[in-house]
Parts: sequence; structure tokens; C-alpha cells
Amino acid sequence: MKNSSNMLLVVLLIGTLIVVDIVVFVALGPAHVVPWLLVAATIGIPVFLRKQEAKEFVQWKDEYSVGIERIDSDHKKLISLINDLETAVHYNAGDEFERKALESLVAYTQTHFKLEEDLMQEHGYADFEAHKGQHDQMISNVEVYIRDYDKHGHKVLGKIAEYLKLWLIEHINGTDRKYVPHLRAKGVK
Ligand SMILES: [Fe+2]
Ligand SMILES: [Fe+2]
Repeated sequence: MKNSSNMLLVVLLIGTLIVVDIVVFVALGPAHVVPWLLVAATIGIPVFLRKQEAKEFVQWKDEYSVGIERIDSDHKKLISLINDLETAVHYNAGDEFERKALESLVAYTQTHFKLEEDLMQEHGYADFEAHKGQHDQMISNVEVYIRDYDKHGHKVLGKIAEYLKLWLIEHINGTDRKYVPHLRAKGVK
């Protein structure tokens, strides 16, 4: 459900189905299969939509852990901020909420990148420049998205949230894992 007007459509659809259920029950009687199929659809549609919506939110999984406590703690915080942004996308919670959700996620992403870059540099990680290059590229993409949001508002927020979510999860599970053996060998916990 992308916004409140979609939510209204779903409420109208369910309401219509309930009315049709009642009419069909009265017309055909409970022995007929059709009214029961309609009851199943009336219950099944909201359950299905709720499941689809839940897929948009990210849950921390143990497999995301890189085994370095302060990095994991940052990644958990980023996931929580991604979910705030998803809330802004799906529930149309108002300009103030969504701008704050977007800015908080971008600001914390920058804070986190700085932590990783400081650790990599301090401990002489060989692929530092390539890793930092990915961070820099992401931040410059985000700047373009924020200008887009300034111009178009809520309607582009879903696209921005999708980009941030996919990029961060992929980065956490891919590029970030590469520095782990080196940092752990240097005693970083
Ligand atoms: Fe990271
Ligand atoms: Fe990183």
C-alpha cells in the first residue's frame, strides 16, 4: 500500500466484498460454495496485502553480523532508520516525518561510513580506497535523490527508500565483509 489513497481503495474493496458476501449468502444459502469462496477472499485479501507490506521492512538477521560489535551496532541502527523511512513511504505520515526519516538515515549513513573509513585507515586496510570510493559514490547518488525529493516530494520517496535499502543491505553483506578478517586480525572487536 503506497499511500493513504491506496489504503482507502482497499477499505472500499473489503467493504464491497462484505456487502456482496451478505447478498450472495441470502440469495444462494450457506450450502452453496460461492458465498464461502467470497468469505475466503474477504479474509485472504487483507492478510495477503499485510504480508506484502511486511516484506518492505527489513529485519536484522544474525547472518548480517560481521562480528565487530560497533559495526554491527551501526548496521542495526541503519536498518532501524531504513524502516522509519519505509514507514514514511507506506503511511504517508506527513512532510515533517518523512523529511526527518530521510535526513536521519542519510546523516547516520555518513557517520557510519566515517567510522568504517577511520578503522580501515588506522589499521592499514589495503582496499581502503576502493571501499571509500563506494561510500563516496553512494553519497553523491543520495545527494541527487535528495534534490529530486526537494522538487517532487512524497511521490519519489518510495524510489529513494528502495535505493537506500538495497544499497545498504547489499553493501553490509558484501563489501563490508571484505575488511573483517583484516580488522579482526588487528584486534578490532
Ligand atoms: Fe557498513
Ligand atoms: Fe562500508
